[in-house]
Amino acid sequence: MIKTLEEAISKKCLIEIFGVGYVGFPLAVRLATSGFKVVGIDNDENKIKRLQSNSLTDYELYLKDEFFECRKRSFQLSDSPTKSNSSKVGIICVPTPIQSKNGDSNLFVRATVEKFLNFCNMGDVIIIESSIKIGTTEQMRNMIESKGFKVGKDVGLCYCPERIDPMNKDWTLENIPRVIYASDDVSFNVAQSVYHYVNNSHLIRVNSSKVAELVKSYENSFRLVNISLVNELAVLCDRLGVDVNDVITAASTKPFGFMAFYPSGGAGGHCIPKDPTFLSETAKASGTQFSTIDTALKINSLMPIHIVSSIEKVITKLGLEKSALVCGLAYKPDIEDMRDSPGFRIVEELKQKNFKVAAYDPYYKKELHKRYLQENNLSELEFNALTSLDDSQLANFNCICIVQHHAVIKSRLSAIYQRSLVPFIYDCQHKLIKNQKSKTILNFYDYDIKENL
Ligand SMILES: NC(=O)c1ccc[n+]([C@@H]2O[C@H](COP(=O)([O-])OP(=O)(O)OC[C@H]3O[C@@H](n4cnc5c(N)ncnc54)[C@H](O)[C@@H]3O)[C@@H](O)[C@H]2O)c1
Repeated sequence: MIKTLEEAISKKCLIEIFGVGYVGFPLAVRLATSGFKVVGIDNDENKIKRLQSNSLTDYELYLKDEFFECRKRSFQLSDSPTKSNSSKVGIICVPTPIQSKNGDSNLFVRATVEKFLNFCNMGDVIIIESSIKIGTTEQMRNMIESKGFKVGKDVGLCYCPERIDPMNKDWTLENIPRVIYASDDVSFNVAQSVYHYVNNSHLIRVNSSKVAELVKSYENSFRLVNISLVNELAVLCDRLGVDVNDVITAASTKPFGFMAFYPSGGAGGHCIPKDPTFLSETAKASGTQFSTIDTALKINSLMPIHIVSSIEKVITKLGLEKSALVCGLAYKPDIEDMRDSPGFRIVEELKQKNFKVAAYDPYYKKELHKRYLQENNLSELEFNALTSLDDSQLANFNCICIVQHHAVIKSRLSAIYQRSLVPFIYDCQHKLIKNQKSKTILNFYDYDIKENL
């Protein structure tokens, strides 16, 4: 492995990045721009063809200049690894599906580690960045050893969980510190040499793979628990006729021991609702339970039900026809990522309550509808996807349920409220500012989430 270290230091090693998505793409561009020879490997043939023809989309576009530059020199794309005379560092950035009866959440990680081993040389190093269930690194070690390689001698194995927060301009790939487990000192030094060009080697080494795995799940559980906590607080505040934001703003003056979280339609995305289940499952398998997480997950899954019940109560009270426009389908603002998004659950729930439903999101693409459904674990969900928030479109709806406030529609949403263009706005994120002159009812509405727990 010393040869791999020397080649990592001199940037002569080959870096294979498995999974060229939200995590793998910026990493590949970063390392290729730094002068490493990089191959981005993805089993999505269409994505590979698109990137090979230098066509970028959505979340990739902000790296356009760097991508075009390094494509001329050191960034190749492929659907599978190849044999190489150079030492290799394989970085695994594939998705982690939710464990189901039909598949293990480690499915893709295992498949890519196996793929890497089929084409590796003695001394190569594998770094897993994907979120993984507790015990996966150990399973990978056993799998590697079952193929005749001694981990820490023939092949290096690291777990360095990704912490990237897409669209966060303050905390980026370059300045987020990373936790890492390494099977041995040389592999750690290899990782240091590579991550020098990612985050200036700001790596915190931990002494067991379980610690690194627990760190990742714990971080995201912290987010999930606090999101559920503030959402329950918002429900209570509504019942008490208090603006939850007043409470959060005042509580935020405490200089220690408090971190502000804000109400929403619930946590979404590929990580926050999923990674905590790794802790919860591990607790069950160890004969105990992680009830904080179980409750937070339950509250999170109940948020769409709570929201739709609230909407239904107001609409019924007002004697209006049940029609609603769901605004914002992405799981976070200013991004086109619609994975595990509360917006889809709210649409589904409204339909179940016999609402006439449409949805609008400036980032929604009709041609990707099937993919969105898959990503939200829905077999079927038809709705009218509006292409604008024009006055004429709004005339068909008695309620707008704002799930996500994207910056590009901020002023339009304010205008809709100020001009009273719909009878009722339900703002899941409590961002619209109350205006006594508007005839539109703007609210969360009292409904006890605990009724369903
Ligand atoms: N997106 C985030 O904000 C974020 C943040 C931190 C950690 N993570 C974790 O990073 C991992 C990747 O997430 P992502 O958001 O980049 O996912 P993604 O879906 O955007 O990208 C993953 C890519 O891997 C490809 N892929 C799947 N199986 C493969 C295989 N066997 N071989 C090669 N390629 C394969 C997919 O086609 C896809 O292009 C996940 O474990 C996720 O939990 C994501």
